[in-house]
Amino acid sequence: MPYEPVLLARINKPNSGKLEGYRADGGYATIERALKEKQPIDVTTQVKDSGLRGRGGAGFPCGLKWTFLPKDHPGPIYLCVNADESEPCTYNNRILMEKDPHQVLEGIMLACYAIRSQKAFYYVRYEYGDSFRSLQAAIDELYAAKLLGQNILGSGFNLDIVLHRGAGAYICGEETGLIESLEGKRAWPRIKPPFPAIEGAFRKPTIVNNVETLACVTQIMKRGIDWFKSFGVPPDPKNPRDAGSYGPKLYTLAGHVEKPVCVEVPMGITLRDLVEKHGGGVWKGRKAKAVNPGGLSMGFVDVNAPLKGEDGKTEYDIPLDFNGPGRVGCLGLGTAAVTVIDDQTSMIDVLHNVCQFFSHESCGQCTPCREGTGWMLKITDRLRRGLGRKEDLDILIDVGDRIGIMPGTTICGLSDGAGWPVKTAIRKFRAEFEAAIKSGAKSKYAKSLALAGSH
Ligand SMILES: Cc1cc2nc3c(=O)[nH]c(=O)nc-3n(C[C@H](O)[C@H](O)[C@H](O)COP(=O)(O)O)c2cc1C
Ligand code: SF4
Repeated sequence: MPYEPVLLARINKPNSGKLEGYRADGGYATIERALKEKQPIDVTTQVKDSGLRGRGGAGFPCGLKWTFLPKDHPGPIYLCVNADESEPCTYNNRILMEKDPHQVLEGIMLACYAIRSQKAFYYVRYEYGDSFRSLQAAIDELYAAKLLGQNILGSGFNLDIVLHRGAGAYICGEETGLIESLEGKRAWPRIKPPFPAIEGAFRKPTIVNNVETLACVTQIMKRGIDWFKSFGVPPDPKNPRDAGSYGPKLYTLAGHVEKPVCVEVPMGITLRDLVEKHGGGVWKGRKAKAVNPGGLSMGFVDVNAPLKGEDGKTEYDIPLDFNGPGRVGCLGLGTAAVTVIDDQTSMIDVLHNVCQFFSHESCGQCTPCREGTGWMLKITDRLRRGLGRKEDLDILIDVGDRIGIMPGTTICGLSDGAGWPVKTAIRKFRAEFEAAIKSGAKSKYAKSLALAGSH
């Protein structure tokens, strides 16, 4: 039986963003029931037991994160909703915010009830004007209906939601960068620990969750743990650290596909099925060469490379669960934004474009990230001008391996995300890079200026 969308079920209804329509579809009955029948800890336990992992990129177990808040804290405790959504080609949060804002707002109410927060900050990236307006209208409707404010539904639960417009930079999505920006400062990520659950916004305990994660909270509280766990992929018995990849998931398709689209399917669909069945295949009748499985930061899949241990399959057949991309040397599932690169596109041009992004977006606090992303841009610029040197490829891999929170040289994960596309592109498409260096061919996109991109 084909999968019936739940998170996106309402998006094509007329006036899908209006409170009246949401309530007619059973909206806010779940928070009403929770306020009447459940203690905050019951909500946390249900979310924890569902196996929900954060949809913002890192895949951290949601309910478990909530339990990291200090016990019996006198407050205030804050929830920050991360709607910065700046990973290139990612737009699943935008669709939820524009088309079904109340589903996420109900998730925020449930989360705040669970973590005993009376204030949520909804941080929306600056460029998302339609999302901002749609959310503001929805929040205004909730205050008018007394579903926000003091003593909601006579339960004694108080909650205010403050909509905050972001600062127009990718780093504002990193959770402590977001908090700094919310506090009115430059979005420089903080050194952790302390983690936000202990000391977050305005130095108070804070939970940061992604928009899609909170939409899942609404559905888990409405439909139950068994429903959520009936979709997706259970933990790998051979990997004791795998928490499984349960539930429905929103995937966005972009790049060289016939049909760029946001689809909801159970976690674990293969890359091939997603592109071929949901994205209408590669555009212009061409073939795929490479794919970013979950945003630029995750690195590249070589769709023609054999998949180890699986006869007849290639990297194109990996499942898009939290583990799948890691099996082929990528960082992870990330934001589940799938970007396809066709076989007529130069990986040197692609990589130069990627390096421009990360060099521009590095906040500059950590020398390895600031300098590393800058040098990776300079070297890829040299390569696309036909001036590359043989040793450039190993230098790029070396820089990519050394910068990042995982090798322990930087404060945040932006630099890991900058390194992964570089090292996967060169490791997987080395022959193409070497041929370009040998021939001295210049990219048709290379301008005559000596260097472009860094600031
Ligand atoms: C450079 C960088 C950018 C990020 N951008 C976002 C973002 O736009 N949205 C998001 O939800 N998480 C983003 N994250 C991840 C957040 O730091 C955090 O893990 C997430 O908001 C937690 O929510 P979740 O547990 O519900 O996934 C980013 C991380 C890094 C390192
Ligand atoms: S890793 Fe990069 S983006 Fe992150 S704090 Fe350091 S310099 Fe800033």
